[in-house]
Amino acid sequence: MCGIVGYVGKQSAQDVVIEGLRRLEYRGYDSAGVALVADGEIASAKKAGKLANLEAELAANPLPESDTGIGHTRWATHGGPTDVNAHPHLSASGRVALVHNGIIENFAALKAELEAAGVVLKSETDTEVVAQLLGIEVDGGADVAEALRTICRRLEGAFTLVAVDAQQPGRVVAARRNSPLVVGVGEGENFIGSDVAAFIEHTREAVELGQDQMVEITADAWTVTDFDGNPAEVRPYHVDWDLSAAQKDGFDWFMRKEIHEQPRALADTLLGRYATDGSLTLDEIRIATSELRSIQRIVIIGCGTAHYAGMVAKYAIEHWTRIPCEVELASEFRYRDPIVGPQTLVVAISQSGETADTLMAIRHAREQGSKVLAICNTNGSTIPRESDAVIYTHAGPEIGVASTKGFLTQVLACYLLGLYLAQVKSTKFGEEIVAIMHELETMPELVQEVLDNQQQVLELAADFADEPSVLFLGRHVGFPVALEGALKLKELAYIHAEGFAAGELKHGPIAVIDQDLPVFVVVPPRGRDMLHDKVVSNIQEIRARGARTIVLAEQDDEAVEQYADVLIRLPKVQTLLQPLVATVPLQIFACELATQKGHDVDQPRNLAKSVTVE
Ligand code: F6R
Repeated sequence: MCGIVGYVGKQSAQDVVIEGLRRLEYRGYDSAGVALVADGEIASAKKAGKLANLEAELAANPLPESDTGIGHTRWATHGGPTDVNAHPHLSASGRVALVHNGIIENFAALKAELEAAGVVLKSETDTEVVAQLLGIEVDGGADVAEALRTICRRLEGAFTLVAVDAQQPGRVVAARRNSPLVVGVGEGENFIGSDVAAFIEHTREAVELGQDQMVEITADAWTVTDFDGNPAEVRPYHVDWDLSAAQKDGFDWFMRKEIHEQPRALADTLLGRYATDGSLTLDEIRIATSELRSIQRIVIIGCGTAHYAGMVAKYAIEHWTRIPCEVELASEFRYRDPIVGPQTLVVAISQSGETADTLMAIRHAREQGSKVLAICNTNGSTIPRESDAVIYTHAGPEIGVASTKGFLTQVLACYLLGLYLAQVKSTKFGEEIVAIMHELETMPELVQEVLDNQQQVLELAADFADEPSVLFLGRHVGFPVALEGALKLKELAYIHAEGFAAGELKHGPIAVIDQDLPVFVVVPPRGRDMLHDKVVSNIQEIRARGARTIVLAEQDDEAVEQYADVLIRLPKVQTLLQPLVATVPLQIFACELATQKGHDVDQPRNLAKSVTVE
C-alpha cells in the first residue's frame, strides 16, 4: 500500500511530486524517491526512511528542473526498506523509470527469465523486474505506453504502475489492476495519484481508473485505454473532501478506513502464496524443510490483539498439523523460564514488528536455541530482522491505534503457516489443503459481505452510549474473537468489557449476569461437533437471567432466533475460519460506539501504536 504521484505541467515537477508524497506518506513511510525527465535523461533520487531523508538528499544534490516527474513513498513488501529497494527503479539502460504499488505474484518467474537473459538486478524488489521488462521493450523500439500495456498483460497480482521515458518529456503513463489509481485533471497540467490526496491542493477534478486500465497524461490531455489499447469508459468526478478526509478515503477515521480495507488486505496476504498445483509457496520461510519436519512443539507469542490472533492460530495449527501448539503472552514468556529448544518453533506475531515485549521474548527463545518465525506487517522492522524467518501480512500501514486489518491478516497468515506445516509434515493431504485454500480465497468476498451489512451494527451502537459494562462470550475459536471484541470496546469506548470462554460461564461469570448486562455471544457454525448446541444453551441461560443478548450466528441458523434480542448474521464458513468474519462486526461496533461518545478513535487515550518499552 504505497503512495504514488505523477505529474506533467507548468510547475516544477519535483515540487509537485514531493508535496504529493508528503500528503501520501500515511500510505507508506519506509522510503521515498522521485524521478524526473530532464534533457533526454532520467534524473532520480531515493532514500530509505521518512520523506525528510529524501528532501535532505535533494537539498544536498539538487536534480535539474523538469516539468515531468513521478514519485513514490514505500511500504515495503518484497525486499527490506533500503536505499536500493526504494522506488523509482530504472531500466538497465537508464531510459525508463518506474514506481509501483502492489505485489507482482509471478515475480519469481519473471525474475528468472530476466536473469537467464543476462539482466543483473540491483534490488530485491518485484518492481525492478517490471522496470527491466519495460526497459527491454522501450529499448527495442516500443512506445512507452504500448510497452507498458504489453508488460501488464504478462503480470499477475496487484499493481499500480507509473512510468516515464527519458526520451518522451511531457508524458507519464500509468496502469492499474487490483490497486488504486486516480487522475487529477488540471489546467495545463495533469496529475496521477494513488488517491486524490496526492493532488487535492491543485485540482478537485478527478478520474478514477477501472480494473485493467491504463492512462497516459500530458500537460493538456489524458487518455484512458484497456490493456489492449481500446478506449475505455471512465467516470470523471468532483472531489469535495478536504485533505484529511481524502487521506482517509472519505471515512471519518483511519480505523474505519482500515476496517473497510480488510477484504483487500486479506487478498494481499494470500497473494502469491498459493500455486496453481495446489501447493502453498511460503518462499519467505527460510528454515530448511528438514528442520521444519523435526519440530516437536510450537509456541506462539504476541501481545494484545496479536496474542488473540495467536489463540485462533493454535486451534487451526494443532488441528491441521497435529503439532502441539501453545500460546503465550510475550510479556510473560521470558520471565517464567520457559522450556524451549531446537525442536520448538517460536512464532512471534506483531503488526508493528517493534513491540518490546515480543522482541525480548524472541531474543530469549533464540538464546535457548529455538528457531523464531515472525508474522509481521512491517517490512524491515526489528522483530522480523531478529527472526530466522518471516511471513509478512502485507496489510499496508495501520494508522489507527486499535488493530483491525492487522488482526485479520495475522490470523490468515497463521492459517497459511499451519497449512504449510501440514504440507511439509504430510499431516494433511493435498486435496484437503486445496479445499481449505479455496475457502480462504473466498474470505475477502465474505468479509466484504459483512461490511455491506453493517447498518444494523451501526444502529446498535446508538443504544450503548450509557452502558457501563459489556460481556463477550465465545467458544473454541470464538473465544479469542470474544476477547478481541472486548479489547476493542475497552480501548475505544472506555467501557469495562470482558471476554469469556462460553463454557466457563457456569464456573463464575454467570454470577454477574442480570438484566442490566448486555452480552455478545459468538455462536459457532452448525458443524459436526456439538459446540453450536452448547453455546445456544449458554444463550438460553443468559436469557433466563434477564440479560440482553446480541448474538452473532451464521446465516439461516434458526436455533438462535428465539433467544437473540439482536441477531447479527454471519456468512457461512467452517468453524476454524469463522474469526475472519465474526470479528468484523465487533470492530465496527467499537468504532461506532466510540465515535458516538465523541472519542478520538484513531488515538484512544493512554495508548500508543507501537509499544517499544516493556
Ligand atoms: C489492540 C492493539 C494492541 C496490539 C499490541 C501488539 O488493538 O493494537 O493490543 O495488538 O500492542 O502490537 P504489535 O502487533 O504491533 O506487536
